[in-house]
Amino acid sequence: MATSKKKKTTLVIKNIGQLVTMQGPVPRRGRDMSEIGLVTDGAVAVSGDEIMAAGKADDVSREIEPAENCVVLSADNRVVTPGLIDPHTHPIFARTRELEFEMRVMGKSYMDIARAGGGIRASVRHLREMEEDKLYARAKKTLDTLMSYGVTSIEAKSGYGLSTDSEIKSLEIIKKLNEQEAMDLYPTFLGAHEVPDEYRERHEAYVDLVIDKMIPAVAEKKLALFCDVFCEEGVFTVEESRRILEAAQKAGMKAKLHADELKSTGGAELAAEIGAVSADHLVCISEKGIDLLAASKTVAVLLPGTSFALGLESAAPARKMIEKGVIIALSTDCNPGSSMTESLPMIISLAALKLKMTAAESLSAVTVNAACAIDQGERLGRLEPGLPADMVIWDMDDYRELPYHYGVNLADVVIKRGKVVVGE
Ligand code: NIG
Ligand code: FE
Repeated sequence: MATSKKKKTTLVIKNIGQLVTMQGPVPRRGRDMSEIGLVTDGAVAVSGDEIMAAGKADDVSREIEPAENCVVLSADNRVVTPGLIDPHTHPIFARTRELEFEMRVMGKSYMDIARAGGGIRASVRHLREMEEDKLYARAKKTLDTLMSYGVTSIEAKSGYGLSTDSEIKSLEIIKKLNEQEAMDLYPTFLGAHEVPDEYRERHEAYVDLVIDKMIPAVAEKKLALFCDVFCEEGVFTVEESRRILEAAQKAGMKAKLHADELKSTGGAELAAEIGAVSADHLVCISEKGIDLLAASKTVAVLLPGTSFALGLESAAPARKMIEKGVIIALSTDCNPGSSMTESLPMIISLAALKLKMTAAESLSAVTVNAACAIDQGERLGRLEPGLPADMVIWDMDDYRELPYHYGVNLADVVIKRGKVVVGE
């Protein structure tokens, strides 16, 4: 068992029935996705905001040098995992869109609603009208709910502003949330989420605006680590996506892509070719797309909650992707249009039922591999000495209850950087 040099212990979790350390290869591909670094009769010792030791209780106890006021928690023989990572969220929006959900229930499609001026463009109109402090407060609610479900880090996209000012405003809210709230947010600029109302007849001019004005402004203010594009029939083409993402890469951002969600357009191929950090959705990925991703470091972020909430039967070919060695992560896609949920555990249930992923594979997908999808594979998603002490004590005796006991919240205690933030 690896340990870090002697420091005072500020938090101990003892009596852990199953400790999921996720120690092992980063990222996890193929059969390695089933390896979750499972330790029975475990314990974790924390110093400040870092893990000191995580492993067998007997080994960990040798490392403990309690500080004054050291907090000792008992997991009561239940399960402890790293804090979950949600690598694809759209939390900066003004209002929910439940009427569209009902329209879909009554038979309209997501694209019908978008073409009629609803969808993302409706959210853009809402966001532009709302003051910053109200947007902040609404987004904070989303973060708090995510955290209550065991999520301790997220990727967070702009994309409901679609003007230079309102995209900057959205990214500044993400920055402020990151500074002020317990959740860590990894920001993504998504100016190419849709073409806003005022550019409907000037699609090309909007692509130019993203490249010539928005990307330089975002880069100059250092507001985003990543740039994403909604590459989809009727939104942005593969060629437009390539131009936007290459411009972003030149400006110092890493590429992400909403790819092959509703139609197969070659999005996965583009993501692999330009070395994107992730390609997301991939419900309609081609055989060639799978092969190219398997040979790349691009993480495939699968979002089964989106197909579920759109009422679609379709699902990404996860089994084939895992067999071929694609790096798979899972995410909520939390957004007011196509996937209104903050429950990453519910996504794990859907991954089991719709993507045929085991509990262990899904745990890899929301820890180590999700960390890679936000370019943090070196430091997040594992319980190892020296890494941030982000953990969850779950109200279950066996980690396989996570997909099985669906639609309820089993996250009992959430610890962020060594502090209890939910529960106890
Ligand atoms: O990931 N696909 C594009 N973006 C979101 C939907 C956004 C919306 O409908 O508001 C998604 O599914
Ligand atoms: Fe999305």
